[in-house]
Amino acid sequence: MGGKKEKIILTGLRPTGALHIGNYFGALLPFVKMQETADKFFLMVADLHALTTLEDSKNLGQNSLSLAMAFVASGIDLKKSVIFVQSQIPQHSELAIALSMITPVPMLELNPTYKEMREEHPKNNNLGLLAYPILQASDILIYKSTEVPVGKDQSPHIEIAREIARKFNNRFGNVFPEPKTILQKEAKIFSLQEPSQKMSKSHGEKTYIALFDSPDIIREKIKIAVTDSGREIKYDEKNKPAISNLLTIYGLFEEKPIKEIEKEFEGKTYAEFKKDLAEIIIKGLAPLQKKYKELEKKPAHIKSVLEDGAKKAEKIASQTMLEVRQKIGLI
Ligand code: TYM
Repeated sequence: MGGKKEKIILTGLRPTGALHIGNYFGALLPFVKMQETADKFFLMVADLHALTTLEDSKNLGQNSLSLAMAFVASGIDLKKSVIFVQSQIPQHSELAIALSMITPVPMLELNPTYKEMREEHPKNNNLGLLAYPILQASDILIYKSTEVPVGKDQSPHIEIAREIARKFNNRFGNVFPEPKTILQKEAKIFSLQEPSQKMSKSHGEKTYIALFDSPDIIREKIKIAVTDSGREIKYDEKNKPAISNLLTIYGLFEEKPIKEIEKEFEGKTYAEFKKDLAEIIIKGLAPLQKKYKELEKKPAHIKSVLEDGAKKAEKIASQTMLEVRQKIGLI
């Protein structure tokens, strides 16, 4: 082909339930910016990966649709990006089988997330969990992705994907670029109840603001959010972690430096600050929530977005699979 190397970005999220404002500022918004600079941008709903730890899959289908709607509502542009569901592209699983033949088991056993997941979900020590990085490598390599934006927790998986690509290329001939990790900024938003912990949906409803919380719920969650001793509204991570966290959230929504916000609230009480903060969050999430509600009203739309995404993804995935089959000698 020659010429400039294409920038092909792929990332995935598991459809495991409600997204929160930490996911929004840490992933969705950066993705919206990233799609501008990519030659191809693939955003995948990793439903097969969600199965590795699910005890009950009754909401899986709905969660997959909701996640896809959240991508669209946050501003993913379907002219620039491809949104698709992992399980709808059978070539991911096909490539994963081929890659499993060159993946050493000890490399998977040493994977730190395997150890963590096994401890967190002791009933789910299944082969899917051990082989998780092989399927993830396949997700990435099948589109010949060059960059993968993820949080720090996923870096070992991308490292394994690189290793698998290297092994494949050495053994069968050059097919796959070695993908680079683009590290998403660490979530700077902490729990509303325990500001030493990152905001997460696994610590209980009161600890996070979900992207689709109603105004009343947002007011209530901010009202009962913990604060620190003293009365000054001042950013001080060490001595005032709770107020600092609320200031961070305010600053992200208002796109304002914290210093300015501190000035605005000089002499005001925590209660006054929280009241304003709740309204800022409600206003900030309103356009996203409006778009999401519109999408919810016409479920056929998101299904057609995913069908279209699957068509585009499968076209590339099947070409790569053909190349892989030829290189390996599968007739
Ligand atoms: P998942 O669904 O666990 O997480 C989705 C994305 O959110 C990031 N993330 C975090 N970042 C910072 N702080 C946190 N506390 C935090 N929690 C989650 C994750 O790093 C990720 O970027 N295996 C992937 C899904 C996947 C994938 C892929 C990703 C499947 N195939 C191919 C990239 C490429 C996962 O479980 O993400």
